[in-house]
Amino acid sequence: MSGLQLKNPVLRWIEYRLPIFSFLDHSLGSSYPSPRNLSYWWNFGSLAGLVLVIMIVTGIVLAMQYTPHVDYAFASVQRIDRDVNFGWLIRDIHMNGASFFFIVVYIHVFRGLYYGSYKAPRELLWMLGLVILLLMMATAFMGYVLPWGQMSFWGATVITNFFTAIPFVGDEVTTWLLGGPTVDNATLNRFFSLHYLFPFLIVGVVILHIWALHRFGSNNPLGIDTKGPQDSIPFHPYYTVKDLFGVGVFLIFFSLVIFYFPDALGEPDNYIEANPLSTPAHIVPEWYFLPFYAILRAVTFDFLWIIDAKLGGVILMFASIMILFFLPWLDRSPVRSAAFRPTYKWFFWILVLDCFVLGWVGANAPDAVFYGVSFVIIGQVATAYYFAHFLVILPLLGIFERPRALPASISEPVLSGGGLPAGAAAKPMEKA
Ligand code: HEM
Repeated sequence: MSGLQLKNPVLRWIEYRLPIFSFLDHSLGSSYPSPRNLSYWWNFGSLAGLVLVIMIVTGIVLAMQYTPHVDYAFASVQRIDRDVNFGWLIRDIHMNGASFFFIVVYIHVFRGLYYGSYKAPRELLWMLGLVILLLMMATAFMGYVLPWGQMSFWGATVITNFFTAIPFVGDEVTTWLLGGPTVDNATLNRFFSLHYLFPFLIVGVVILHIWALHRFGSNNPLGIDTKGPQDSIPFHPYYTVKDLFGVGVFLIFFSLVIFYFPDALGEPDNYIEANPLSTPAHIVPEWYFLPFYAILRAVTFDFLWIIDAKLGGVILMFASIMILFFLPWLDRSPVRSAAFRPTYKWFFWILVLDCFVLGWVGANAPDAVFYGVSFVIIGQVATAYYFAHFLVILPLLGIFERPRALPASISEPVLSGGGLPAGAAAKPMEKA
């Protein structure tokens, strides 16, 4: 039963016919109990929602001035940057918003990995998140083609070329995807159409994601379930205010980049119009794809007679995300939070480091060397480690790790000294 009391007669009239206010109150209001110990790492879901809205609004406005044709696309984007009133601002927000979206969502995902938020009963919530991630990647990839710069064209050419590796039907599939034998006007048109559509699919999946979240409520830094009213506080005003504070901090960083370093995360080559006759010396994807690009290029040998190096790379790249769908079952440890898993904690940070190494490898040409070691080797070791983390280390930790004792309830360590993990001695409360 909602504790919502509407004083305004108009709102009461609406509520009687469409109980939307009690729905909101149940989902985000004072009737939604949340664990009392959520840290700032729990801000990133709402931030991701904010960035999604920013991307959709700026994208719709950009589309009013953009021309999806190979002869005009590049010029129309330049016009937005130079001639359209505040076009530069809208474009810089959208362009950098994509990067910030990935920063926020990657932190959100790693938060989930650290605190075991993917574990029962939140497996489906996690999997819906992964569907969102896949849709985000497809959307970002197609969006990057739209300005029709050199990197747009050559990035799309390199990546779509990997589809030709599919056995027997590779060429046909690639032609079908591109709408012709090469990346051209038909490709630009369908990418524009799908780039417009996918964010709305993301909104749909986000609704399911939040729905699944509300089924059992948020996990928390201790990773134990709420056991009574003393473990919870109402979402509003406590977490609405905390989320708003996060929004403020986020907007400071976002504004700094937009107003002072709008091209810092971009690639200068994309300010040269696409030229199918001139290949850039070094084709790199946007930074958020670099780890996956490294995995794609890590396979330099044929597996079996049917899987050549190119197809092997494509399979491994898709597998690097697909494996995350099985994570709730690969990690058998009954303890969620890394705060109580001394060994897992280490492997978590090694995985983070490994992902940075993969990103660094992806940013370098494969024939480059680092202190005598080729980037191919570094990429292969980092790729092998990535898969070993999920397929070997996690299952073994589930068997051999000795977790620390869990606190009896969320309120116990919070009320006795600020959410310290059990085992760590809580400071006695200072007497006033
Ligand atoms: C547009 C992208 C996304 C949006 C808007 C979004 C939104 C949210 C929100 C609002 C929450 C609750 C607040 C929080 O826990 O931070 C949440 C929780 C969660 N999200 Fe997402 N999310 C997105 C992407 C993802 C992705 C890519 C994954 C994982 C692959 C994911 C996994 C989770 C999990 C496991 C939780 C529960 C966390 C917990 O309770 O500890 N989300 N999400």
